[in-house]
Amino acid sequence: MVSRVIPVDVFDLVIFGGTGDLARRKILPGLFRRFCAGQMQPEAQIIGAARAEMDSAEYREMVADAVREFSAEGSVGDEDLAQFVERLHYVPIDARGESGWSDLVSHMRPGVVHAFYFSVAPSLFGDLAERLNIHGLTNDASRIVVEKPFGRDLESARALNRDLAAYFDESQIYRIDHYLGKETVQNLMAVRFGNMLFEPLWNSQYVDHIQITVAETVGVGGRGDYYDKSGAMRDMVQNHLMQLLCLIAMEPPSKFDPDAVRDEKLKVIRALDKMDPHHIVRGQYEASDDGPSYREAVGDPRSRTESYVAMKVGVSNWRWAGTPFYLRTGKRLKARSSEITVVFKELNHSIFGEQEDHHNVLSIRLQPNEGITLGVTIKEPGPGGMRLIDVPLDMSFAQALGDDADAPPDAYERLIMDVIRGNQTLFMRGDEVEAAWAWTDPIIKGWEERGDVPKLYESGSDGPVDAVQMLARDTRVWRKVSP
Ligand code: BG6
Repeated sequence: MVSRVIPVDVFDLVIFGGTGDLARRKILPGLFRRFCAGQMQPEAQIIGAARAEMDSAEYREMVADAVREFSAEGSVGDEDLAQFVERLHYVPIDARGESGWSDLVSHMRPGVVHAFYFSVAPSLFGDLAERLNIHGLTNDASRIVVEKPFGRDLESARALNRDLAAYFDESQIYRIDHYLGKETVQNLMAVRFGNMLFEPLWNSQYVDHIQITVAETVGVGGRGDYYDKSGAMRDMVQNHLMQLLCLIAMEPPSKFDPDAVRDEKLKVIRALDKMDPHHIVRGQYEASDDGPSYREAVGDPRSRTESYVAMKVGVSNWRWAGTPFYLRTGKRLKARSSEITVVFKELNHSIFGEQEDHHNVLSIRLQPNEGITLGVTIKEPGPGGMRLIDVPLDMSFAQALGDDADAPPDAYERLIMDVIRGNQTLFMRGDEVEAAWAWTDPIIKGWEERGDVPKLYESGSDGPVDAVQMLARDTRVWRKVSP
């Protein structure tokens, strides 16, 4: 397959927090891959900015080590890496003080795209925006990229939006939700809006229910401090699962344009029903042979933070009223598997007489093994009458696109290139983030007020049994979580 990589404009990208975990794991290895793919022009510059005192030569060494450590084995050529790190500079900087800023200004070239990646704690967003402004770096050519968590509730998200809006127009602000950069998430839009087949059936008349699962095998690891103050609701549901739900449920935008898409997503969030506490199950994982319990991992034997959440969500609009969306996500589950499943209704009448229930099922698999499967009902081969069975029409992308297809870029690679291109379609708008918090806040507040204690679940399992019972009450079952 011929690669269709189009180089982006020449840029100066400043990574605040350029020595941090995200920069080392994702941002810099991702930029390296885009450099190798020819998407980043050789004239582009990357400037790491952080508190640590080091010079550019030391930074280049640090980045080279990070790229080797966090890239697929055998994928990093020495020559490519040497050329890539030549594009790097380092500026020690004080986000809240004066030191380092004039040095940073001297690196910024006129006439190229300026992007500032705030890979730092949200408490620094306002200070950084203000300093950029003081030093004349908030012009039309500049963009800022901010990471989640974008606030921890509606009030703090509003404050962050205000801090940024004081110096930047909304069209310059790129709020990352890395799920939107995943290949199959974008494919969801292609499948829905690029085919005749699905859209006519995409409503409560034909869809029985929808399941969205983001299951992880990892625990909280070394992120206990952050995670225990967040929990699965803030860490995953308010952003990643909410975005997936929006893409599944939204009306067709008039065109694939940033505001047209984001307007439709916002309408979905605003149409979400207020949550009934009986429609939510929270869980916490227990210890197992290969790892500590959640409470041990976060160092608080009385923690009531959830590492798992399952919920039944209603969308009250013309298209979806009556079709539940079941969402679940958790850590230390049986398998790493993210999947969206649309379960269609049964036929009104079967001409084949008494048969087991048969539903068409469309599964969109985000990871691993990205692909789409459509379950169809056929006759079981062989003699013995008309017995029906369900079989998958399978389209694994790796299979369908052939071995020589380019490996899809990692979510971060794509999103950073979109920032440089100035395309905000896959980024969250300020009002979207606020609407998502406005829906999430009362749920979390309810737990706090009631002193809700998460159910314990076995590590390596499917999660708490209560989640199974929640669906059983609706005579439905969760999809199997399989790798
Ligand atoms: C992050 C969360 O946003 O997404 C993590 O903070 C989570 O807790 C991660 O593990 C999952 O991302 P992915 O791409 O591995 O599914």
